[in-house]
Amino acid sequence: MSKARGFLASGATVRIQICRGCCCGTERKHPGVDHDGQIAAISAIARTRIVDCVGECAHSNVVIVRPGDGPSVWLGGINNPALTSAVCDWLVDGASQPLPPVLQSRVFIRQSVAVGAGAEDV
Ligand code: FES
Repeated sequence: MSKARGFLASGATVRIQICRGCCCGTERKHPGVDHDGQIAAISAIARTRIVDCVGECAHSNVVIVRPGDGPSVWLGGINNPALTSAVCDWLVDGASQPLPPVLQSRVFIRQSVAVGAGAEDV
Protein backbone atom coordinates (compact mmCIF):
# COMPACT_ATOMS: atom_id res chain seq x y z
CA MET A 1 0.00 0.00 0.00
CA SER A 2 1.41 3.38 -0.92
CA LYS A 3 1.57 6.12 1.63
CA ALA A 4 -0.60 9.17 1.05
CA ARG A 5 1.41 12.15 -0.04
CA GLY A 6 2.59 14.26 2.85
CA PHE A 7 0.22 12.96 5.51
CA LEU A 8 1.24 13.46 9.11
CA ALA A 9 0.54 10.82 11.72
CA SER A 10 -2.19 13.14 13.01
CA GLY A 11 -3.90 12.98 9.63
CA ALA A 12 -3.06 16.58 8.84
CA THR A 13 -1.32 17.29 5.58
CA VAL A 14 1.85 19.11 4.75
CA ARG A 15 1.66 21.60 1.95
CA ILE A 16 4.56 22.88 -0.10
CA GLN A 17 4.99 26.08 -2.01
CA ILE A 18 7.80 26.24 -4.51
CA CYS A 19 8.60 29.71 -5.71
CA ARG A 20 9.00 30.17 -9.43
CA GLY A 21 9.12 33.88 -10.04
CA CYS A 22 11.69 36.30 -11.37
CA CYS A 23 14.64 34.49 -9.73
CA CYS A 24 13.65 31.14 -8.30
CA GLY A 25 13.65 28.43 -10.91
CA THR A 26 15.33 30.51 -13.57
CA GLU A 27 18.26 29.42 -15.67
CA ARG A 28 19.46 33.03 -15.65
CA LYS A 29 20.07 33.09 -11.89
CA HIS A 30 20.71 29.40 -11.30
CA PRO A 31 22.13 27.87 -14.46
CA GLY A 32 22.48 24.14 -14.63
CA VAL A 33 19.92 23.44 -11.91
CA ASP A 34 17.19 20.94 -12.79
CA HIS A 35 14.34 23.19 -11.72
CA ASP A 36 11.64 21.04 -13.32
CA GLY A 37 13.14 17.95 -11.71
CA GLN A 38 12.96 19.67 -8.34
CA ILE A 39 9.24 20.32 -8.78
CA ALA A 40 8.68 16.75 -9.95
CA ALA A 41 10.56 15.26 -7.00
CA ILE A 42 8.86 17.35 -4.33
CA SER A 43 5.37 17.18 -5.82
CA ALA A 44 5.63 13.38 -5.96
CA ILE A 45 5.71 13.40 -2.17
CA ALA A 46 3.61 16.31 -0.96
CA ARG A 47 0.83 18.59 -2.10
CA THR A 48 2.70 21.26 -3.99
CA ARG A 49 1.78 24.65 -5.29
CA ILE A 50 3.94 26.73 -7.57
CA VAL A 51 3.82 30.39 -6.64
CA ASP A 52 5.10 33.59 -8.13
CA CYS A 53 7.83 35.59 -6.42
CA VAL A 54 7.35 35.63 -2.65
CA GLY A 55 9.64 38.62 -2.27
CA GLU A 56 12.67 36.75 -0.96
CA CYS A 57 14.78 36.58 -4.10
CA ALA A 58 18.03 36.81 -2.15
CA HIS A 59 17.20 33.30 -0.92
CA SER A 60 16.22 31.70 -4.23
CA ASN A 61 15.27 28.94 -4.84
CA VAL A 62 12.70 29.27 -2.09
CA VAL A 63 10.68 26.29 -0.85
CA ILE A 64 8.06 26.86 1.85
CA VAL A 65 6.95 23.90 3.92
CA ARG A 66 3.64 24.27 5.70
CA PRO A 67 3.03 21.40 8.10
CA GLY A 68 -0.65 21.03 8.84
CA ASP A 69 -0.19 21.62 12.54
CA GLY A 70 2.99 23.63 12.74
CA PRO A 71 4.56 26.89 11.64
CA SER A 72 5.76 27.35 8.09
CA VAL A 73 9.41 26.67 7.39
CA TRP A 74 11.01 28.85 4.75
CA LEU A 75 13.96 27.24 3.04
CA GLY A 76 16.32 29.12 0.76
CA GLY A 77 19.05 28.19 -1.66
CA ILE A 78 17.53 24.84 -2.57
CA ASN A 79 19.59 24.67 -5.72
CA ASN A 80 21.15 21.26 -6.05
CA PRO A 81 20.05 17.62 -6.12
CA ALA A 82 21.37 16.89 -2.62
CA LEU A 83 19.28 19.66 -1.08
CA THR A 84 16.21 18.70 -3.08
CA SER A 85 16.67 15.12 -1.90
CA ALA A 86 17.02 16.31 1.69
CA VAL A 87 13.75 18.20 1.38
CA CYS A 88 12.07 15.13 -0.10
CA ASP A 89 13.43 12.88 2.65
CA TRP A 90 12.14 15.27 5.28
CA LEU A 91 8.72 15.39 3.63
CA VAL A 92 8.25 11.63 3.43
CA ASP A 93 6.95 11.62 7.00
CA GLY A 94 5.07 14.87 6.54
CA ALA A 95 7.91 17.01 7.91
CA SER A 96 7.12 15.57 11.32
CA GLN A 97 10.74 14.81 12.19
CA PRO A 98 13.32 17.45 13.16
CA LEU A 99 14.73 19.32 10.21
CA PRO A 100 17.84 17.48 9.00
CA PRO A 101 21.14 19.27 9.65
CA VAL A 102 21.80 19.85 5.94
CA LEU A 103 18.62 21.94 5.77
CA GLN A 104 18.97 23.78 9.07
CA SER A 105 21.32 26.33 7.55
CA ARG A 106 18.82 26.91 4.74
CA VAL A 107 16.06 28.15 7.02
CA PHE A 108 15.44 31.86 6.92
CA ILE A 109 12.98 34.26 8.46
CA ARG A 110 10.65 35.77 5.95
CA GLN A 111 11.09 39.53 5.64
CA SER A 112 8.70 40.35 2.82
CA VAL A 113 4.93 40.60 2.85
CA ALA A 114 4.55 39.26 -0.69
CA VAL A 115 2.36 36.18 -0.81
CA GLY A 116 3.19 34.65 -4.16
CA ALA A 117 0.27 35.50 -6.38
CA GLY A 118 -0.57 33.38 -9.38
CA ALA A 119 -0.40 30.06 -7.60
CA GLU A 120 -0.68 26.81 -9.55
CA ASP A 121 -1.13 23.37 -8.05
CA VAL A 122 1.03 20.54 -9.40
S1 FES B 1 11.47 34.66 -7.37
FE1 FES B 1 11.40 33.41 -5.58
S2 FES B 1 11.55 34.85 -4.00
FE2 FES B 1 11.55 36.08 -5.76
